[in-house]
Formats: sequence, structure tokens, C-alpha cells
Amino acid sequence: MTVSERRGSARTAVVWDTLRPILDAPPLDVLDIGGGTGGFAVRVAQLGHRVTVVDPSPDALAALARRARELDVEVEGRQGDLGALGVEQGAVDLVLCHGVLEVVDDPAEAIATLGRVLRPGGRLSLLVGQRNASVVARAMAGHFAQALALLDDTSPSGRAGRRFTVAEATDLLADAAFRVDSVHGVRVFADLVPGSLLDLEPGAPAALAELEHAVAQRPDFLPLAAQLHLMATFDR
Ligand SMILES: C[S@@+](CC[C@H](N)C(=O)[O-])C[C@H]1O[C@@H](n2cnc3c(N)ncnc32)[C@H](O)[C@@H]1O
Repeated sequence: MTVSERRGSARTAVVWDTLRPILDAPPLDVLDIGGGTGGFAVRVAQLGHRVTVVDPSPDALAALARRARELDVEVEGRQGDLGALGVEQGAVDLVLCHGVLEVVDDPAEAIATLGRVLRPGGRLSLLVGQRNASVVARAMAGHFAQALALLDDTSPSGRAGRRFTVAEATDLLADAAFRVDSVHGVRVFADLVPGSLLDLEPGAPAALAELEHAVAQRPDFLPLAAQLHLMATFDR
């Protein structure tokens, strides 16, 4: 495994562990909105679920198709976006919305749209950038004015788009009739650790993943996490 793969698996381990009990079920209809090149979608399909990726990027969808072919799994890729999903209402058991709410025009409308495609009791896996960690990262890089400006900035800025606090993310879900089941902090340490350490220190990637798990649900650590992972149930 390369350094970036090691770092990548430490970054996503907490999300996978939360999703695993939900995916350990008879085949589900899964929508991965903004699923990109299919890093999650293909793994979910490998577990036997029916997965559709809707994404506006033809390049991402082509990479998804290649990845699925290489692993011999079926994933339906459709060009579209949150404004034009092309998915039947009330037809989906699980929606993955990872790294997308940051870039849409209207996050509240996006969440409401996702509620409409879910069956009653359907689940949403929402992964969003966390603002306080970005403030800290900017300050640590010496960009103090940027850090200050970001403190209360809910608008999209830069390539990463907008970020959310825990309260903002949970309020968005509650306002769209979702019940929040869990909130995990993701990448509390993974982005801060030098790649050379993960590469050279035997056992470091596994120890880092264990540490990420240990702090993921501790409220004190949530504001340090680069991302928040929220699981929510649509209570129609
Ligand atoms: C940061 S990537 C995340 C990819 C993937 N979900 C993941 O977690 O690896 C953001 C993805 O959202 C897609 N996207 C951008 N605007 C979108 C929109 N309005 N509706 C749906 N997807 C969108 C992009 O094409 C891109 O594939």
C-alpha cells in the first residue's frame, strides 16, 4: 500500500465502520449522489447492493465505470446533479452524500431533495467539511486573516467549498425531517500526520486508525475533525 493509500484508509475508516452494520443487510437500493469516481460506490456494490451514482462530471463517471469493470461489479452511473436527480421518489434505502453539500447552491434544498428519494425510514450518510478544523489549519499555516474570515463564513469558498459546524449540520437535517442517529468526527489526526511517519513506522497506520476510532464520537474532539459524518433517518 502506498502512503496516500494508507492515509486514505485512515481517513475513511470511521465512515466505513459506521456504515458497515447498515450494509450488512439484504441488498439495498443505494444512491451515491456526487459519488465521483466511485471510491465508496464500488465497495458498496461489492457487498451486494444495487448502487446508482449520480454525478455531473462525465470524467468522474468514466473513471467510475473503469473502476467497476476492473473489480467486476455493477454500478449504474448517471449524469445529473442534486437539482436534476432523475431518481424515482421514495425508491431508495440509503443515500450517500459525501463531500457534496460543500459545493451545492442551497444545502437546505439539497437535503430536502434527498429526503424525497428515500423510503420512509431510509437512511442518509452525510459527510461534510468541518469549519473549525479549517480555521485551525489556516492559522497553523500563518494565514491568520483567512482564518479569522472563515470563523463564521457559511458561504462556499475556495475549491473545498463551504464548511459546517456540528450545529449547522444537525440543524439542516432536523429542518428536513431527518432524525440524526449519530455524529462522528472524521480525520481528527489523519491530515496532521506526516506521510513519512505512516510509511516508515511499522504499525503506524493501524495505530492511527485505532486512535481515529477512539476519538470519533467524543464531543470534545468533534470541532477538531476535518470532516463530520452524520447518519440520519428520514422520519416522514
Ligand atoms: C469532493 S467530490 C466527492 C466524491 C465522492 N462522493 C467521495 O466522497 O469521494 C465532490 C463530487 O460532487 C460532484 N458534484 C458537484 N456538484 C454537484 C451537484 N450539484 N450535485 C451532485 N454532485 C455534485 C462532483 O462532480 C464530485 O464528483
